[in-house]
Amino acid sequence: MKKVSLYINGRPVQVVSDDELVLLDLLRDTLGLTGAKQSCDRKGQCGACTVIVNGKAVLSCLTKVASLNGAEVITVEGLGNPDRPHPIQEAFVLAGAVQCGFCTPGMIMAAKALLDQNLDPSADDIKHALRRNLCRCTGYAKIIDAVQLAGRFLRGEITPDAVRPQTDTDAFGVNHPRPPAMSKACGTAQFTGDIRIPGALELAALRSPHPHAKISSIDFSEALEQPGVVGVMTAKDIKGTNRLNYIIPDRPVLCEDRVRYIGDPVAVLAARTRDQAMAALGKIKVEYEMLPVLSEPENAMAEDAFQIHDQWPNLCFSQPQIKGDTAAALNDSHVVIEAHFKTQINHQAPLEPEACAAFFEGDGDDAQLVVIGRSINIHHHLAMLQEAVGWENMRYEEAFSGGQFGIKIEITSEGIAAAAAIHFRHPVRYIPSLVESMQMSSKRHPFDMKVKMGADASNRVTALDMDMVVDNGAYHSNGNIIVNRAILMLSGSYHIPHVHCQSRLVYTNNPWGSAARGAGPPQAHFALECAMDMLAEKLEVDPLEFRQINSLKPGQSKSTGQVVDQWPFPELCDAIRPHFERATRETSGFKDGPIRRGAGLAAGAFGIGGPGDSAIAALELDDDGGVTVYAAAADPGEGTDSMLTQLVAKNMNLPLDKVRLVARDTDRTTATGPAAGSRLTFMVGGALVDAINQLKDSMAEVGANTAEDLRKAEKPVRYIGRKKALDAGPLDPKTGQGASFDSQVHAIQLAEVEVNTKTGEVHVIKMTTACDAGVLINPQNVEGQLQGGMDMGVGYALREQYVADKTKDWMTFKYPSMKTAFDMETILLQTPRNRGPNGAVGVGEMTMVPTAPAVINAIHNACGIWVTELPAVPDKVKAALAEAES
Ligand code: FES
Ligand code: FES
Repeated sequence: MKKVSLYINGRPVQVVSDDELVLLDLLRDTLGLTGAKQSCDRKGQCGACTVIVNGKAVLSCLTKVASLNGAEVITVEGLGNPDRPHPIQEAFVLAGAVQCGFCTPGMIMAAKALLDQNLDPSADDIKHALRRNLCRCTGYAKIIDAVQLAGRFLRGEITPDAVRPQTDTDAFGVNHPRPPAMSKACGTAQFTGDIRIPGALELAALRSPHPHAKISSIDFSEALEQPGVVGVMTAKDIKGTNRLNYIIPDRPVLCEDRVRYIGDPVAVLAARTRDQAMAALGKIKVEYEMLPVLSEPENAMAEDAFQIHDQWPNLCFSQPQIKGDTAAALNDSHVVIEAHFKTQINHQAPLEPEACAAFFEGDGDDAQLVVIGRSINIHHHLAMLQEAVGWENMRYEEAFSGGQFGIKIEITSEGIAAAAAIHFRHPVRYIPSLVESMQMSSKRHPFDMKVKMGADASNRVTALDMDMVVDNGAYHSNGNIIVNRAILMLSGSYHIPHVHCQSRLVYTNNPWGSAARGAGPPQAHFALECAMDMLAEKLEVDPLEFRQINSLKPGQSKSTGQVVDQWPFPELCDAIRPHFERATRETSGFKDGPIRRGAGLAAGAFGIGGPGDSAIAALELDDDGGVTVYAAAADPGEGTDSMLTQLVAKNMNLPLDKVRLVARDTDRTTATGPAAGSRLTFMVGGALVDAINQLKDSMAEVGANTAEDLRKAEKPVRYIGRKKALDAGPLDPKTGQGASFDSQVHAIQLAEVEVNTKTGEVHVIKMTTACDAGVLINPQNVEGQLQGGMDMGVGYALREQYVADKTKDWMTFKYPSMKTAFDMETILLQTPRNRGPNGAVGVGEMTMVPTAPAVINAIHNACGIWVTELPAVPDKVKAALAEAES
């Protein structure tokens, strides 16, 4: 032990430290300075823990306290607070660099260390200085903008007030800062792991190392004798159904008699500290009896295959789609292409671990169990939890969430924390490691797609045939919805008169699939959009012209048979044309030699307001003339809070600061569906406009100007707005015809890539998207979503893959960084959408859809090869090159 004296944010601190204590733990656990975050199991991979020590940016997770005698430490809390922010904090907020905000404190501290040395850094300087700081949300573009804006503030060229939109300016089309952005930039916003509950037990879960096995016995007697251990919980201790029932009750909170994938939870240990819990976990002894491992859908579909679930067959869902006569149309086509596409299992990779806290408010059987976590669908998840853990009086609170990208359509750590709080009758926190967070959470489904597509001599697509096999992994979650979404959007941006698709969803012993940004269409569009380029090449027609010729038109029908009333896709083709022509010109000189360049296009029409969707939002007129919105519309970083606030301000003609949001608590909100499918603007925004109209009608009817006036006229001050999708669904089970989406967001994207034909490495130089997301409420937020989606899409195209038991941290995952960041350009058209609130639709997933095929098409344009299996890692590129040469 050693006594260490140091200064933290200017204040003297004395601490007795052992050789192991790291600065991050001193800050967070002892001093309550939770601005510094951790994401990478303290491996120095994420940069979220960055602080400044003696003028230099350091990773506090790797900095031993014992080495800090006399040091000056500055954390994000030491820079400023929401009332008196530092100019760098202002710059991050005003530049739109704060989405989920989990990376933000670390980014800001790295930026501060840079700007202290160099007040006018170039983009390359910034990329170098922030190279250790990861962000999943922004694609890094706005972070670079923010650091440069901060430089301008600090050089005195401009003030934050000159940049900041005033709260009483127009609410629409203006980049008003997100309501919680400043608290995230100042490190005061509480994420789940930041919540301190005095005396709470810390949980650790023992997970299966085997993909498929029977649990013969669990012996935890030795674990109970370890220091700090309070108890162990197994499935037998759970009072409810022990099943987390999203659609099918197949996923246990804790495994009962069988494990079905690597990472299935078997037992939970509670201890006084997290370290004690982790240390004792290895003392729980589990005996397994191995079962056949089904890692390929083909094997799982075999007639004599071992059934992974007793009640549900391995082939657990199937949906055909039949429009017209595809076989005849292909037969009559002028050209036909045939290809086999595969996509990988991928992790959504939010930076924040799957943390959860649970505790009782009150005593006895009437006490309310409070669960705090990262859910994007708090009411639905609350109902799942009540049934699973057997406690009725519960409340779910959504903390600030460090990104989710579909992963939080499901609950993970919540089941364990809630059950443990009941079993031990004690407050608990469950802060899983990154490894465990990856193991416990859902993954993007891998698709295997065999495609035939034809066109006639006038360059019109005639038919599409697709055989689609989707690996569901060990549990169903919303697998049928993912498959349906792929089918609902199967014809993409195009008029395809004849479509035949057979889809099959199959249980395996792989990690379980669920929602992941785009959820189904990114996989199916990968095949469709590469096939479009293959056809264009065979027809010897320009791929952009081919897409424009084949655009769906109002009055024509999608693959579902639904006739569309709006389709502003040709205009996007016009908008991207000069960029495509420039890129074609610029890359044309790089078609020989080891370094080749290429330009590729891909498009997408992303459906919003799916069959059967509905939303509810309540609006209350407050006594001061402001209003409060009550709706469980989660904002894990997309900008929902901005959208709702600006929508109300616009339609009520109120300043933004008179609009309040209550969105994160099941006791105070209406259920309004998940923050998924890019649905919140269209659906919840639509419900909110309905509530606004009711309130305005009531006020007009009785001549009221205030809440008091309404009360005197015996009118309510609170109104419930609703929105329902046009189609109730479902698709016809035999033909896949019928129900479809209310509206679409459209995009076409251009990828410019460089391929090193010696190493197989592909580098994206630039991505350009032309996108029409209807009337823009907050252009900066829309652009931020598009940029983040492009960055994620490039990772999906080139690097990222989750391999159970091998992908264990952000290095092995190949997380995007400043080093892999590329130039981005966004072109925004604004066709007001019929039925959209004030003409708007959502945009959160759009650029995830066409990015991967645009990159693959660009690789083909560069060097003539097709990489039809994602990700296009160097080995696959080299193999395709070798095959092309042979
Ligand atoms: S927690 Fe320090 S780098 Fe990730
Ligand atoms: S804003 Fe960077 S990780 Fe979310």
